[in-house]
Amino acid sequence: MDSATRENIYLAAKKWILEAGKQIRENIDKPIEVGSKTNPNDLVTSMDKNTEKYFLEKIKTNYPNHFLLSEEGFGDVLHTLDGIVWIIDPIDGTMNFVQQKRNFAISIGIYHDGIGEIGLIYNVMEDVLYHAKRGEGAYKDEYKLPPLNTNMVLEESVIGLNHLWLCENKLVDEKYMQKLIKTARGSRTYGSAALELAFVAEGILEGYLTMGLSPWDFAAGMILIEEVGGITTNIDGGSIDMLQRNSVFAGNPTVHKQIITNFLSKGRK
Ligand code: IPD
Ligand code: CA
Ligand code: CA
Ligand code: CA
Repeated sequence: MDSATRENIYLAAKKWILEAGKQIRENIDKPIEVGSKTNPNDLVTSMDKNTEKYFLEKIKTNYPNHFLLSEEGFGDVLHTLDGIVWIIDPIDGTMNFVQQKRNFAISIGIYHDGIGEIGLIYNVMEDVLYHAKRGEGAYKDEYKLPPLNTNMVLEESVIGLNHLWLCENKLVDEKYMQKLIKTARGSRTYGSAALELAFVAEGILEGYLTMGLSPWDFAAGMILIEEVGGITTNIDGGSIDMLQRNSVFAGNPTVHKQIITNFLSKGRK
């Protein structure tokens, strides 16, 4: 993708994500329809669907050759990442959106032939935009995020993960995860994968671990993290499949290595 094309797409994506977020903020106290999908706690609302439709309309009108891969089913059914693909989560953190009216994001990753070119994560209620273009660094609004500190150690780190890792689970012996939590300085659960990945890029979480995420959850975050020298893999340290659900472990490179070697590989079932 040449730089003029990329700049044009980046500016459009930025304009649309800010506009979609503004619409959500302006309607945050209005009644919404809330339904569920795979289980009673897997929520979806009219706002998730309408926001996805907004992006669909903008992309197909302005860039008829581009593809859309998105959560709520209005996008394309894709088996490859050939061409230019917008990977969008219209609301990441729907449970937070419904129950808390904060701590949710819109996530957009734009890929060209499988290479992440543009990443945008918009913390809607705080009106904070994380954004990156491949090779040009990552930003939080106007502020350029510095490279992650490679001298960081787990003992001084805050790790993002949820309670499921500490209960009996199919992936890793929970005793190793309990040890991991006790070794780290602290742990946090925010409930929006996109925001948690943005926090890794910002250097306020040294790691974020999750058992299963879809492409729209991590497509943008991976681009931001790459730009500050962070690493995103599955929990075995292998590469992420951009078209499938994956376990995801993103982090500061030094802490990532420490966790894979001392905890995940030892406790892996
Ligand atoms: C979810 C959130 C949540 C993560 C789930 C995701 P959604 O996305 O990112 O933090 O734990 O795995 O599915 O459904 O709110 O877009
Ligand atoms: Ca969802
Ligand atoms: Ca999501
Ligand atoms: Ca979502």
